[in-house]
Amino acid sequence: MPAELPIPAEKMPRHVAIIMDGNGRWARRRGLPRTMGHRQGVLVLRPLIETSCEWGIPYLTLYAFSSENWARPKEEVGALMGLIEEFFFREVEELKARGARIRILGELSRLPERARGFVERAVEMTKDNERLQLNLALNYGGRAELARAARLLAEEVQAGKRTPDSIDEKALEEHLYTAGLPDVDLLIRTAGEKRTSNFLPFQTAYAEFVSLPCFWPDFGPEEYAQALREYASRQRRFGTLEAK
Ligand code: FPP
Repeated sequence: MPAELPIPAEKMPRHVAIIMDGNGRWARRRGLPRTMGHRQGVLVLRPLIETSCEWGIPYLTLYAFSSENWARPKEEVGALMGLIEEFFFREVEELKARGARIRILGELSRLPERARGFVERAVEMTKDNERLQLNLALNYGGRAELARAARLLAEEVQAGKRTPDSIDEKALEEHLYTAGLPDVDLLIRTAGEKRTSNFLPFQTAYAEFVSLPCFWPDFGPEEYAQALREYASRQRRFGTLEAK
């Protein structure tokens, strides 16, 4: 039986990106350590991925760890790395079976070796899947991504592989971690925050931004559906006068 869609299929965004915020506040409200909020936040991922597959959303990008998050207390960073390891270890078979392909956005080399190993294994194991492209931003920063793309292009010019005048928006896009993926249509942030915090600045240029009041561990299919309904109610004009 086809899954019931919260909005008509033709209005469904192709690419949804999420800033998962409010784990710490969720935990504090319950008198729990912050890391329990992160642990609970990981549990939300499986239903989110399942729902994205069922609703026919082909690209999902999650901000799991920013390049600024290293500045958090050592114990919290350690706990997050542990959760990342656990997630990739425990969920990879399920993701593979669901048809999800994992891609990493960010500089993996700074991750502890064990975590990096699990992440690389998951990328390799799911590389032939096509139903859902699941992008996880790990040690990711949007400005650093743009600087990296500029550096790569400069190296190509220096090596005589291209000329400066060949550097246009498309060339830049091709040197981002997201090369080849469609632009983000819908950017969701939880915990009521209305900032984009250095997340995908190039890719979200024309994205619709939806801020939800719930903390990330409380984000379920109903909250997801609410964000999609809000998205579907917007008129997207991409700088023109006509709704697209
Ligand atoms: C923001 O909450 C959340 C994060 C910094 C990390 C998000 C990470 C996860 C959900 C788990 C790891 C992900 C994977 C893919 C295994 P916050 O701590 O900033 O919350 P607060 O603003 O309430 O303090």
